[in-house]
Amino acid sequence: MSRHLLSVDDLGRSGIDEMLELSSSFVEVTQREIPKVPALRGKTVASLFYEESTRTRLSFETAAKRLSADTMTFAISSSSVKKGESLRDTVQTIAALGVDAVVVRHRAAGAPHRIAGWIDASIINAGDGRHEHPTQALLDLLTLRRRLATTTFDGLRVAVVGDVRHSRVARSTVKALVAVGAEVTLVGPPTLLPESLAGWNCAVSHELDPLLPETDVVYLLRIQSERQDEALFPSLREYTTRYGLTAERAGRLKPDTVIMHPGPMNRGVEIAAEVADGPASIITEQVTNGVAVRMAVLWSLLGSGGSIA
Ligand code: CP
Repeated sequence: MSRHLLSVDDLGRSGIDEMLELSSSFVEVTQREIPKVPALRGKTVASLFYEESTRTRLSFETAAKRLSADTMTFAISSSSVKKGESLRDTVQTIAALGVDAVVVRHRAAGAPHRIAGWIDASIINAGDGRHEHPTQALLDLLTLRRRLATTTFDGLRVAVVGDVRHSRVARSTVKALVAVGAEVTLVGPPTLLPESLAGWNCAVSHELDPLLPETDVVYLLRIQSERQDEALFPSLREYTTRYGLTAERAGRLKPDTVIMHPGPMNRGVEIAAEVADGPASIITEQVTNGVAVRMAVLWSLLGSGGSIA
């Protein structure tokens, strides 16, 4: 891997495969009685989250600690950002304290790329606006590999349903799925699908129901009200009526179809509570596997090729 992880494009097909193999090794580490290795002792990982997060932030911090790295957590609400300090001054201050990697989430697409040009530390994109979320893509693929007990995705039929237009998860996960051979269909009303499909290499459907009996994976996306500045569909109720994975719709899936969601979920909108908690759902496994993936990413960027131990 290069010095940073800003996009799935930094990995390519071979890089994705390598990271999934490495992540599988770290799954074994996370399952040990003491799930900790000394691989990154002496390294410091800072979390710089300008946008809210539960999963990604805790997952990176857990991963860094399990690798024995020191962690530095930056809380916007109690920082000098509130006094008007710029992004550049903030990251240069953090760099001056001595960090080896900075995990960045920002509402502006491209912010992690800018930061990578300002300081020497490795930068990991933990979600930038509606642009990318590369470690989400890796954890999604690792979760599929483990649940489906396969290392090949050729011909796997994946329906990505909902607010694709505003979703960085969709941009990264679809790119990764297509790279490894899956057949992806984006599903939603035209107003929630990308303005241009150039580069997506996906099919598109404005109807979910015909796909239900033939899809292997249903990947639901959160309706991102905070990134919508106009009404893009008549009402949440109408959205659920046409695109929500209700219990009735889930009953029309093949018995082995799996259901994914990156979280946080709008229960009762894009997914019914009983479907989210049902046996076909691998949503909790996605969260669990995120730690191993982020251990693999941190180790690849900072581990200097040493052993995992
Ligand atoms: N999937 C995801 O990025 O979740 P958080 O916003 O909670 O980090």
